[in-house]
Amino acid sequence: MLVLGIESSCDETGVALYDSERGLVAHHLHTQMAMHAEYGGVVPELASRDHIRRVIPLTEACLAETGLRLTDVDAIAYTQGPGLGGALLVGTSVANALAFGLDIPVIAVHHLEGHLLSPLLAEPRPAFPFLALLVSGGHTQLMAVHGIGHYEVLGETLDDAAGEAFDKTAKLLGIDYPGGATLSRLAESGDPARFTLPRPMLNSPDLDMSFSGLKTAVLTLVRQQEAQNGAIDDATRNDICRAFQEAIVEVLVKKSLKALKQTGMKRLVVAGGVGANRQLRTALDLAASRRKFDVFYPPLALCTDNGAMIAFAGAMRLAFAHPAAGFSVKPRWDLASLPAA
Ligand code: KG4
Ligand code: ZN
Repeated sequence: MLVLGIESSCDETGVALYDSERGLVAHHLHTQMAMHAEYGGVVPELASRDHIRRVIPLTEACLAETGLRLTDVDAIAYTQGPGLGGALLVGTSVANALAFGLDIPVIAVHHLEGHLLSPLLAEPRPAFPFLALLVSGGHTQLMAVHGIGHYEVLGETLDDAAGEAFDKTAKLLGIDYPGGATLSRLAESGDPARFTLPRPMLNSPDLDMSFSGLKTAVLTLVRQQEAQNGAIDDATRNDICRAFQEAIVEVLVKKSLKALKQTGMKRLVVAGGVGANRQLRTALDLAASRRKFDVFYPPLALCTDNGAMIAFAGAMRLAFAHPAAGFSVKPRWDLASLPAA
């Protein structure tokens, strides 16, 4: 079974081919980061127009690379939501039109389910059940994953998502959009001992998190430093990046450990863009070896948005879902509302 996956929910156009026997056979991606950088954030109308320009050439690139033809494709999966309405409509329209033309099933995929299942594209694959730490630009959740579609939210951020906190903090430190990955790189040369930032809700009795106060704490620290020493120099900026990253990583790790203890689960799966963060991975790996649990990540290139995770989730869902063609998109969509396998 060969599934073509199309992702167009935000600022990345991703197309991939997943074969249920051979695994991921091709994936191509175009990121719009440079285009949006000029505006300091995603401009939805520009995003939609760019998806239109990219989606067919990316599909052709996947086919050309593998020597396959459109007529070899057995089903088409696309991101139906959540995301930007106009951007989602591009993938939705192309997927439905292709499927209609080819007379094959079309599968609507939940973007977060794509992220959640993406570690299953790496070896070794985590077995169900597992605890998932979903840390993306739009969401931060801890969930118990009992099987495909059996998702139980255990805790989540009450305000900003972890990736959003990285991006907003990067912006106020003068780092170009989207600054999360750059902030994280600069943090590596920062001094962890120079500044300490608050760890919001670190010891709250639940598994919820809050990151918006952290960004405000960084702003206050920047103002203090500017008042004392004038404009922030590179070393100070890197030290602030480090303090920010230390705080956010500690919260994510502690809440994950608490959730593992609470559920008795022995497998932790990390998914979403912030899952690419090196300090987070190092801290989780260390905790895993000390506390005897296994931790799984998607391949680094598949942490952020991509078509491979959509093709894969589509292939999983095809096994039991009743595919339905339709041009509706779901800019807001609760993951826990998905039908279970
Ligand atoms: O999962 P994703 O591609 O998009 C959403 O579905 O939201 O995640 C993008 C987020 C951005 O906020 C980006 O800054 C963040 O992931 N990100 C990182 C790193 N790489 C990407 N945050 C921290 N450290 C990184 N290395
Ligand atoms: Zn995403």
